[in-house]
Order: sequence, then C-alpha cells, then structure tokens
Amino acid sequence: MINAFLGVFDVPATMREADAMEIESVHEDFGGRVRGLDLTGPLSSDDVEALHVAIDEFSVLVFPEQDMTDEAQMVLTAALGEPEESHVVFGRTGEIAYIGTIGNVIDDENKRDDAHPHTLSQKGNNLWHSDSSFRRIPSYVSILHGYEVPPEGGHTEFVSQRAAYQRLGTEKQAQINDLHVLHDYVFSRTKVAPVHDNHAASLPPIEQRLVRTNPRHGRQNFYVGSHARSIIGWSGVDSRQLIDELNELATEPARRWVQQWQPGDTVIWDNRCVLHRGSGYDADRFRRRMRQTRVRGAGPTLDE
Ligand code: OGA
Ligand code: MN
Repeated sequence: MINAFLGVFDVPATMREADAMEIESVHEDFGGRVRGLDLTGPLSSDDVEALHVAIDEFSVLVFPEQDMTDEAQMVLTAALGEPEESHVVFGRTGEIAYIGTIGNVIDDENKRDDAHPHTLSQKGNNLWHSDSSFRRIPSYVSILHGYEVPPEGGHTEFVSQRAAYQRLGTEKQAQINDLHVLHDYVFSRTKVAPVHDNHAASLPPIEQRLVRTNPRHGRQNFYVGSHARSIIGWSGVDSRQLIDELNELATEPARRWVQQWQPGDTVIWDNRCVLHRGSGYDADRFRRRMRQTRVRGAGPTLDE
C-alpha cells in the first residue's frame, strides 16, 4: 500500500475531461453531497483542483456509493497532498501508518465490545474536535470511508467554525484575532480514556493561531475544539471562559449537520475550519468499520 502511495507521484495526470461534480448543499452553514465523481478512478488534475475548490467552499463533502478500497483511498489521499501518518501508531510504536480503522471490527466474525480499551479510547472521538489540531502541522483534510455501519447511532456530526466566527460580530472578532492557543491531546483525551505513556510523550502541547484564514478566498474562522487547552498569556479562568464560549457558539444544535452513514459513503472534511465528533453507538450489539486517512496541512498555523 505504501508503494501504491509513493508511486502516484510519478503518474502523470490522465488526459480526459474532468468529471462533472454536482454538489447539493446540505446545511446553510456548510456541507455538500457530491454526485458525478468516482473517487476511486483515476483523477485528472482538473478533478483534483475541483476537489480543493469544493473543500474550500463547502468544508464537508459526502460522496455516496463509492466502491472504495484501501489502495484507492491512499491514492486519493496522496492526490490531495501529503498523507499524514497516524499519531496514535507513531506515538505508541514509532511506526509509520497512513490508514487506520475507526470502529470495533476485527474481522468477519470478531469485534471488540464496548468495554474493550480500544473501543474506549475511540470514544475520545465523541468530543468535538479537529483532527491533529495538537500537531505542529495540523491536518488539512480527513477522509473517512464507511464499510460497515450500525443500524442505530454511529453517526458523525459536523459544525462550521467559519460560520460561528461570522456570528461573533466584528467587535468580538477584533478582540480574538491575534490570540494564540495551546492544543493538547493528553488534556482532552484523558477525560475519556487513558493515553499510553509513549503516545503522551510524543505529543507535547502545541501553540496554534486562534483565528485562521482560508488562503483561497480569505474567509476566517476560529479554531478550537476539545484539544484547545488555554490561551497563551491568559489565566486559566479567562482561558476556559473564552474557549468554552467559542466551542458552545460553534456547536449550537441548529448549527450541526449529521452524517448518517450508509456503507459506501466517503466523507472528506476540512479540519482547518470544521469540528466533528462521533455520536457513539452500542459496540456490544453492532459492528462499525470505517477507514480513515488524513492529508497534512500546508504548515504550522503560526506561519499562516
Ligand atoms: C475521525 C472521527 C468520528 C466517528 O475519524 O477522525 O473523529 O464518527 N470519527 O467515527
Ligand atoms: Mn476525528
């Protein structure tokens, strides 16, 4: 699989017409359902550019009925940028892995139940977050493909921190525009499950900009979520008051859009500006198997 991913850098863009992507809006703040593009086929450079433009515009893209494989997902991931290695695998073992399983499935017969440590640690995903906001170079997008989905629960919820930033108003925006925030995986995830010592040691808190600007169209958003621990230079009390206020504003129920998974759905989301969380599901009764990859961001947010 790693060979497949390295190989795509040598493949010239195929010479064909770009597929006509049709995007239907799913929520007034963000999100689109996309038809007319086979993510598993060869993507022309026009297709890839159209995907970047759609990501910048819609923040969350749902592609139903994709005949996905791990190999095709890696090719898609590498087409969108530099694949980001799993911090979980690297932190624990020092090994590099680009694709990981979300859910409780071991194989066709076996699954992990609700009390299994692996299931418990994935419950950390049920806190609102942006993937890898605690890394020096955080994620650009995540790509999640659903293979087996529970009949109840197991949804993924999204909100836009760009729409929420708009709702702040210009006076409040001016007050927060130049602030920096510490993001800390151990701070957030130990609320839910223990973090392995190796993993914790690999992820010191990282300073990020509080307000980010999309490089294509200049629209701004705040960037918080559960990994946001404190505001640089502020007291604990004041830090938590602001971070909690921004998280609450972003995640108001009417502002959420819920991805109710069907097998074959591929979802691409923009970690620079949306928060997401899992809704939870009964792992004792149901199987859930998704595969996830990420594309690394363009650089540290402090350089933006
Ligand atoms: C993720 C994630 C939530 C879910 O894959 O990054 O947070 O619904 N998933 O599984
Ligand atoms: Mn996530």
